[in-house]
Amino acid sequence: MIISPSVLSLHYEDMKNQTEQLNASGAEWMHFDVMDGHFVPNLTFGPDILKAFCRISDLFKDVHLMVTDPEFFADIFIDAGADLITFHQEVLSEEKIHGLIRHIHEKGAKAGISIKPKTDTETLRPFLNEADLFLIMSVEPGFGGQKFIPEAAEKIASLKKMLKEADSGALIQVDGGINGETAQTAADAGADVLVAGSYVFRDDIGKAVKSLCMIQPSSR
Ligand code: DX5
Ligand code: ZN
Repeated sequence: MIISPSVLSLHYEDMKNQTEQLNASGAEWMHFDVMDGHFVPNLTFGPDILKAFCRISDLFKDVHLMVTDPEFFADIFIDAGADLITFHQEVLSEEKIHGLIRHIHEKGAKAGISIKPKTDTETLRPFLNEADLFLIMSVEPGFGGQKFIPEAAEKIASLKKMLKEADSGALIQVDGGINGETAQTAADAGADVLVAGSYVFRDDIGKAVKSLCMIQPSSR
């Protein structure tokens, strides 16, 4: 299981120290939530903060664009150090999604597509053999600290089946409300990458990450 702690929940008054703990925690990725105040009712950080993280952490930079104009922001965050750009299916036409995946790959980054809780996994079908990752949101995007939406489990399982039938090696990432219990649910349903913010940046970062690293799917 790949763990990608969301730095939305990092305690910024202690950024350097928290990041050093994160680097030593066993996490392989860092999840960076970009919100524009339009696609979601919240506003987070820009490319300069990602550049700062790149100066103090070698973790894989997993950038989640919750923005209405991912074509504009993709280049900005790739140039700021993003290794993966995940954008939302809901904001682009099918044709533009094909184009943006191609463009992100041409810029040398990995491409992911995310869907909100109410968006059907069928919308991902045209991209199963193009995107590197699919992000199933298990909370309504916009804020950390929300409760895992149980219906996400069947969406993960349905996407897992679609990927297998399409012979796709794309990863399934799950994001929102992940803790010791819900991580097991997501893993059993077929998740490959778990995002966790409030569960990790609570008290002991290393302990929380290690508890998630140990999660294995019980029946696969
Ligand atoms: C929500 C973000 C998530 C969030 C996860 O819009 O996309 O990545 O930070 O936070 P927790 O793990 O606290 O639900
Ligand atoms: Zn996210």
